Amino acid sequence: MNILILGAGGREHAIAWKLAQSPSLTNLYIAPGNAGTALLGKNIPLSVSDFEGIKKFVIENNIRMVIVGPEVPLVDGIHDFFHKDKQLKNISVIGPVKKAAMLEGSKDFAKNFMQRHKIPTASYKTFEKSNLHEGLSFLKKFKPPYVLKADGLAAGKGVIICESISDAENEFKAMLEDAKFGDASRKVVIEEFLKGIELSVFVLTDGSSYKILPSAKDYKRIGERDTGLNTGGMGSISPVPFADNEFMQKVEEQIIKPTINGLNSEGIKYKGFIFFGLININGNPYVIEYNARMGDPEAESVIPRIKSDLLDLFVGVADGSLKDKNLEIDNRYTAAIMLVSKGYPGSYEKGKEITGIDKITGSIIFHAGTKVDEDSEKILTNGGRVLAVTSFGDTMEEALKISYKNAELINFEGKFYRKDLGKDIMQ
Ligand code: AMP
Ligand code: GLY
Repeated sequence: MNILILGAGGREHAIAWKLAQSPSLTNLYIAPGNAGTALLGKNIPLSVSDFEGIKKFVIENNIRMVIVGPEVPLVDGIHDFFHKDKQLKNISVIGPVKKAAMLEGSKDFAKNFMQRHKIPTASYKTFEKSNLHEGLSFLKKFKPPYVLKADGLAAGKGVIICESISDAENEFKAMLEDAKFGDASRKVVIEEFLKGIELSVFVLTDGSSYKILPSAKDYKRIGERDTGLNTGGMGSISPVPFADNEFMQKVEEQIIKPTINGLNSEGIKYKGFIFFGLININGNPYVIEYNARMGDPEAESVIPRIKSDLLDLFVGVADGSLKDKNLEIDNRYTAAIMLVSKGYPGSYEKGKEITGIDKITGSIIFHAGTKVDEDSEKILTNGGRVLAVTSFGDTMEEALKISYKNAELINFEGKFYRKDLGKDIMQ
């Protein structure tokens, strides 16, 4: 089968790496891809938002399945675009239709959905410019910190947590009155602050049955002990030690099942990954957010632990036979450490030569912001998050130790990584 993966990050490299092991794969294409995906298939210089360009490529190259990595094309309706097109309608798309991707694309939709289906989440209300004053009064009902969320996609920056009521009021006004996040903050959700430890849980679903993938913990802040600015993610570990059977049972009964049943009861056929951003409060799970895709950098620790043929699981998603498929998981721990460019998540330089990848043994390198220089064929940095070093271990500590040892061996000017992954949850 010929496959096209859309995206260019570590998540897409991890998916490509896994699909490349499938006996059912014929040709693998990645658009636009990175220097890592180029080793596994052919990179195609197409934007994930260029639906017409993707259509042409899919037809000309006899692609049978498209796997959508990031959220933007999903929220923009790429699945619906395929579905409605005479020439594309029989091609499988792994990733939900636009209506279902609203679970990520609109915080208001997601919160409403959770309320309708009694899924545990923070209490909230949504406001627009027309009822801004009501919103300001609602804010005062909470104690600090205050949580404000732009309704739409804002490249991961749309959630603001304020320590003082005056900051919260100013931010709230900036979002609604000054369109701080453009159209994404035309509506703003104000919600209760939840205190606990976060984790990510993923399912793969064909719309009726589902498979629960390994849990993971993502390290979001740039600085050690979770300080400093938010990033796309500085690394991940899987599984999360506190997500034991008892906890996961609650996640399945209180969150996963009502989500799948809720989508069904609303006539939404969801095909793809659902990412549950959860918080553990005294042993009970609450939903912080939904995403309509795999996490990044969670994919770099979760996907290597899938022993089964991922392409076969995707076929199950596409044709509705997921319940007949087997999902086998490697019991070992994985740790993925992200190496980033100096200055990230602020401004940073690109084009630095990356050396040492060839010296690595015992870890998998998943590229994110990398590219091959056309003339010299050297691998260069091409983004803030450059690459992930993923290792297995019988314990989390062992997995981390191997990744940290190998992270030392890879070099590029301005290399930075967090040295405290896992420390917060070591038991
Ligand atoms: P999101 O973009 O929805 O993932 O939110 C970004 C981050 O904000 C989350 O990972 C949490 O750390 C934090 N956050 C979001 N909602 C809440 C909440 N209700 N209580 C506490 N922290 C929150
Ligand atoms: N790791 C968080 C995300 O993918 O959004």
